Amino acid sequence: MLYFDNAGTSWPKPEVVYQTQDRVSRQGGNPGRGVNQASLQASRLLFQTREALGQLFGITHLERIIFTQNITESINVGLQGLLYPGDHILISSVEHNAVVRPLEYLKEKGISYSVIPCNPRGELDPATLGFYFRPNTRLLCCTHASNVLGSILPLNELGLIAKQHNCIFMVDTAQTAGVLPLDVEEQQIDFLAFTGHKSLMGPQGVGGFYLKQGINLRPLIYGGTGVHSLDLRQPAIWPEGMESGTRNVPAISALGTGVEYILQQGLEKIRQHEIALMSVLLEGLKNLPGVRILGPEDPASRVGLVSCIFEEYTPEEISFELDQSYNIITRAGLHCAPLAHRTAGTIERGALRFSLSYFQTESDIHALLSALKTILGGTA
Ligand SMILES: Cc1ncc(COP(=O)(O)O)c(C=O)c1O
Repeated sequence: MLYFDNAGTSWPKPEVVYQTQDRVSRQGGNPGRGVNQASLQASRLLFQTREALGQLFGITHLERIIFTQNITESINVGLQGLLYPGDHILISSVEHNAVVRPLEYLKEKGISYSVIPCNPRGELDPATLGFYFRPNTRLLCCTHASNVLGSILPLNELGLIAKQHNCIFMVDTAQTAGVLPLDVEEQQIDFLAFTGHKSLMGPQGVGGFYLKQGINLRPLIYGGTGVHSLDLRQPAIWPEGMESGTRNVPAISALGTGVEYILQQGLEKIRQHEIALMSVLLEGLKNLPGVRILGPEDPASRVGLVSCIFEEYTPEEISFELDQSYNIITRAGLHCAPLAHRTAGTIERGALRFSLSYFQTESDIHALLSALKTILGGTA
């Protein structure tokens, strides 16, 4: 199988990730519950993953890293726990439904939002931003890179503007964590949401967030935390008070080894490999007949995914043919991001997305291009 849906969920993972998940699954121990050796060992494993994530994201207050099931949950905890009736939020026009749907729900609670338009390539000009702030704007929420257009949003400028307007800056790193540099201090990120199973190379079922100390957050879930058990109210201590119920220790621990693998390889090497593969893919796609590529032209201005549309075929037709006849996995449709497709002008029919992995080689890209060439006809 040639797998080009890494922006959906990455495959394969580093071998150590599979090994860790299997080993920890066999070992037992409920973290933070009791002082037996199995529980203490499980707590240690969670801490190791916090340490690795702290290193990757420049986080020193590790207790402010909270584990969830995925980034969708993280964003929900953030939006529902930080905002109050009367608040106004700004988002970009390439946000995923993980952001848009909670905000649509929050409208019922008197919370409003505005969408800052990106250009059709999914690029956001920070100079346009000032216009959208209102006296009650409390939060700016942006994806670091579009999961449809691949465009990278200018985080540093956005963080600065959010601070100038006294706003909380929330970043969805689903498509960039583990590939692009992220530093919560340098980029002034107050709330960083991550998911484990994409470019962080971990398993499904684990994600999380970081929230800067001093910012108040209401939990979404209340219950057992393993600490302050006599108190019937939720303890206001981190991370325990934000992690009610047993965490997915095997997945969190495996995620930690995925992040350690990334740290060993180095972001620069991972990113350069991605750019090299993307250059080959973009060049090859340009030579195919009837293909329109979405997103920025320069490989260095985008993350490792390329979406396109076809003059003569629907995205689903091509995806189906690649799957059935060539054993090549791609993703057709709206990618849970109708705002991004509206921005690109592809809301009616969606697009076909090819997304890359650190473990692919140029010959994988050539195999994809050759299959596309046979389906479409052309010279790639
Ligand atoms: C930009 C972005 N945000 C959020 C998500 C949701 O990720 P998850 O399903 O891991 O919660 C995705 C996944 O497709 C994404 O690409």
